[in-house]
Amino acid sequence: MSVARRRPSARGSGLASRLLAAIVVVLLTAVATAALVAAAVGPGVFHDHMVAAGAADTDAAVLHAERAFRDAGAVVLALALGAAAVASSVVSVVLTRRIARSLRAVAAAAGGVGAGRYEARVPRTGLGEEFDALAASFNTMAARLQDAERLRGRLLADVAHELRTPVATLAGYLEAVEDGVRPLDPATVAVLRDQATRLTRLAQDLAAVTRAEAGDLVLDLEPVDAGELCRTACAAAQERAEAAGVRLRTEVLADGALIRVDRTSLAQVLDNLVDNALRHTPRGGVVVVATTRDPDGNVRLSVADTGEGIGPEHLPHVFERFYRADSARDRAHGGSGIGLAISRALVEAHGGAITAESDGRGSGATFVVVLPGA
Ligand SMILES: Nc1ncnc2c1ncn2[C@@H]1O[C@H](COP(=O)(O)OP(=O)(O)O)[C@@H](O)[C@H]1O
Ligand SMILES: [Mg+2]
Repeated sequence: MSVARRRPSARGSGLASRLLAAIVVVLLTAVATAALVAAAVGPGVFHDHMVAAGAADTDAAVLHAERAFRDAGAVVLALALGAAAVASSVVSVVLTRRIARSLRAVAAAAGGVGAGRYEARVPRTGLGEEFDALAASFNTMAARLQDAERLRGRLLADVAHELRTPVATLAGYLEAVEDGVRPLDPATVAVLRDQATRLTRLAQDLAAVTRAEAGDLVLDLEPVDAGELCRTACAAAQERAEAAGVRLRTEVLADGALIRVDRTSLAQVLDNLVDNALRHTPRGGVVVVATTRDPDGNVRLSVADTGEGIGPEHLPHVFERFYRADSARDRAHGGSGIGLAISRALVEAHGGAITAESDGRGSGATFVVVLPGA
């Protein structure tokens, strides 16, 4: 405790005495120079003036006046030195206090963040722009740490929530089989397998989104025709589309649109978008996968459906991990709610952007991926 109490004052006096020492050096230099000049030059000039005014070299009055001149000079110098010493002490004490107070605020905030209190911030002190810049960078750092911590907490809670249902179902079914309440028939095995599959997918998706968001993806970039990517994605989903009674077609640029991407990652993004579109479009609907080129050379890949659409309150959140517009129904569809988070991370890793548009429920949804042209 005594150490903690001594530390700030020791730092304060260290700063104060250093500042005072610096001022004293300046002060002594000025005084020494003034004294030297006054002693060496002043009397000579004074004497010359007296002689020029007609006084004789050895007049008692001249000697007296010269002595008065020297004494007055000494008094003036002494008074100036005293006043400067008092002023510099006051200035160094006031400045030191302000600097020390600001430093203590930074130290307290840094200590808080170090101890896990990420809400700690450095107040503005008015100590000048350098200190304000330091305080601003510190506060930005603390805010980012706070965000990361909040995300980490939410992710853990989400994962726990996602695990609970399949694990509880598995446990319940196994217990019922053990107790002889339920036979181990194909229907029961199907439920067990279904839940196991869901857990496996959750694990895979979590690993994928963590890898993608951490930025340690190894992208094998090569020039790829965006239209060809769309056609491949549609071909892979054709069977699912037919089963769902949805028409799936492509509208791609005839002259091809080259993008520099990792083929597998982009295929994963398109597959997720098409899969979502098919799952959210009722029988008789249409899903169109298209490519267009922007005037600035960027290439747009879009997946548009005529399905149920997304409400404006959900639109800004669909790319968040585990976010589902209709949690019960979307979960029943078998999605882990991470697909769009993975897609966004993958697209951003390519220097692109992904957005969702919808005029609200019932009017379909369009997902657009914009990538720089190759
Ligand atoms: N084409 C779409 N139409 C309507 N809602 C959609 C569409 N695509 C995505 N969504 C909404 O966004 C949510 C997140 O999608 P996603 O991350 O792929 O998770 P999942 O497909 O596992 O539910 C979905 O649960 C759904 O509510
Ligand atoms: Mg999905």
